[in-house]
Amino acid sequence: MTPYGTVSEESETPEASGDRSRSGFATMEATVNVNGVVTDGDQAVVSVFDHGFLYGDGVYETLRTYNRQPFLLDRHLARLRASADRLALEVPPTDADLETRIRETMRGVNPGGEVTVRMVVTRGVGELNYDPAACPQPTIVIIARPHSQIPDTLLRDGISVVVASVLRNHPRSVDPSIKSNNLLNNVLAMHEAIRQGAYEAILLNHRGELAECSQSNLFAVRDGVVVTPPLDAGLLEGVTRNFLFEVGVDIGVPVREAVLRPADLEQVDELFITSTTREVIPVVRVGTRPVGSGRPGPIASRLLTRFRDRARTLTRAPVAG
Ligand SMILES: Cc1ncc(COP(=O)(O)O)c(C=O)c1O
Repeated sequence: MTPYGTVSEESETPEASGDRSRSGFATMEATVNVNGVVTDGDQAVVSVFDHGFLYGDGVYETLRTYNRQPFLLDRHLARLRASADRLALEVPPTDADLETRIRETMRGVNPGGEVTVRMVVTRGVGELNYDPAACPQPTIVIIARPHSQIPDTLLRDGISVVVASVLRNHPRSVDPSIKSNNLLNNVLAMHEAIRQGAYEAILLNHRGELAECSQSNLFAVRDGVVVTPPLDAGLLEGVTRNFLFEVGVDIGVPVREAVLRPADLEQVDELFITSTTREVIPVVRVGTRPVGSGRPGPIASRLLTRFRDRARTLTRAPVAG
């Protein structure tokens, strides 16, 4: 356990996790849809012969609601399909069909509150070999859980990160731009962060440049300009990352791509991470070194405020005319 509590892409906090069994798995509130069949989380079953389980052969998305509406769903579905295409994995349902499944799965989860949704598409069940023809049907799982808001203390005090010794995958290995279930590299990087009591791990690419974090994208601020590593650095093109370029335009703060190296971390005024579930969180320490003033900076805070305003506006039901 880190000083921040349990950290996961879904940002589960101890308060939201419910009772834990000895394995540490929370008997949390979840509703799950497996190939169109909706059950409680503890009733949901996927075969041990599923190639997602056996080989990590699949893709996923994590999205969340604002005003109980899936936020930027079109962008998440587009990325899901792009990821699946890269694995020659078919996703037969239409986007409308997937949206219906998401809404059916969310129904009744955290009434009146927000929901986090994880969609997983795997190669499916088949013989124990790597031949895609072994699996005639993909498995499509949708997990809906109460969204657990990032604690305000993290925004007030900031987080610490470490630079992991594990490198981000080379793009000619499992390409980081694919949001794949093959996450061992990220898991190992995050283990390093947890061992050092940090909230996130920065991964470098094969050229030694900063790429991104284990479960989030990385941004730095210098002289009023916000920069984030380019796609060519080998990273996941975060939906939040892309949205932040638009938020920057809104508030008149330039947000650009730029190559960043570890030495730059000593020169920056601010550092922050972004993801769907974490929005924007300021980083105040890298290892033992403070970032900038050692306190959360004003630009990350302004971007977060505007980000939330836009998210709430975009998900507000249109007024009936
Ligand atoms: C490796 C990695 N990078 C970046 C992100 C942020 O992506 P998004 O903003 O689409 O949630 C994630 C989110 O899960 C991630 O796993």
